[in-house]
Amino acid sequence: MLIFSIESSHDDTSFAICKNKSVLWMKTISQIEVHKKYGGTVPEIASRLHSKNIAILIEEIKTEIDFNKIDLIAYTKEPGLIGSLHIGYIVANTISILFNKPIIGLNHLEGHFYSAFIDKEVMYPALGLIASGGHTQLVLYKSKNDYQLIGETQDDAIGEAYDKVARKLKIGFPGGPIIDEYWKKFHKIYLKNYSIPETNKKYDFSLSGLKTNIINLINNDENRKRKVDTEKYATEFQNTIIKYLYKKMKIAIEEFHPNCIVLSGGVSANYGIRNMFLKLHKNVFLPDLKYTTDNAGMIGRLAYEKERDE
Ligand code: KG4
Ligand code: ZN
Repeated sequence: MLIFSIESSHDDTSFAICKNKSVLWMKTISQIEVHKKYGGTVPEIASRLHSKNIAILIEEIKTEIDFNKIDLIAYTKEPGLIGSLHIGYIVANTISILFNKPIIGLNHLEGHFYSAFIDKEVMYPALGLIASGGHTQLVLYKSKNDYQLIGETQDDAIGEAYDKVARKLKIGFPGGPIIDEYWKKFHKIYLKNYSIPETNKKYDFSLSGLKTNIINLINNDENRKRKVDTEKYATEFQNTIIKYLYKKMKIAIEEFHPNCIVLSGGVSANYGIRNMFLKLHKNVFLPDLKYTTDNAGMIGRLAYEKERDE
């Protein structure tokens, strides 16, 4: 099955050509350098940049593929920024009409889940943690169409907490990769963690207490004109995240007995969290680093899973 896929839900414009489980070609244009200046994604600017960048990708894809040979067109339908999603949809739909090809609109978070299975078969039942800048979900896929949301964040997403702590520490955006670099350098020096968040439901997540705790400590330092120990705060924040996710995953694995576990979404690029996951189960699926952030390859892989014969 030859699939052409588009992802445009947030700040990446991405096209891919997939053949079954594999990505044959992929190109992504990121807007991150522009949004960095604002400390976060500005929706109106994101839409305008998608319009510009998608035209560049259309020029490129023309030389890569004969659309007559495509079996299916897939695009990200939800969730995401409405203006950005529409731009991907309009292009996908136009190609579908012009070349008389079937089209399928897919869920971005499901795409993240399947990013760990590019070139691989899913070992159902699969327990996955999808962690990005906008979402934190624990999901159980008993089969491709039997999906259960086990828990989700009640406030900030994990990536969002990374970004907000990094902003307070004035170390840049997006915060995840920057804090991860501090952690790599200093986790053998700073061993402590903050208190592990609690939620009413055992599989839900809460990140805002941890974030506020650190922000208050930094405010205290600033008010008392003390040096803000960026290395310590960043490292102990990530120590806490790793310990927290380890505990959550451990109890979920004991209860649901999955055949494999999965970590995906932007946060799955995290070195410390990836290593911790590898210790949790004998079958661990992590996306290749190029598929951790938003990309059309994962949408193509998801489309194949949905449309293939059983
Ligand atoms: O999935 P994604 O690319 O975009 C959406 O939010 O949909 O995720 C972006 C998020 C950001 O919050 C960023 O800080 C976080 O993923 N992130 C990381 C790392 N790389 C990116 N978080 C922790 N560690 C990383 N290495
Ligand atoms: Zn995403």
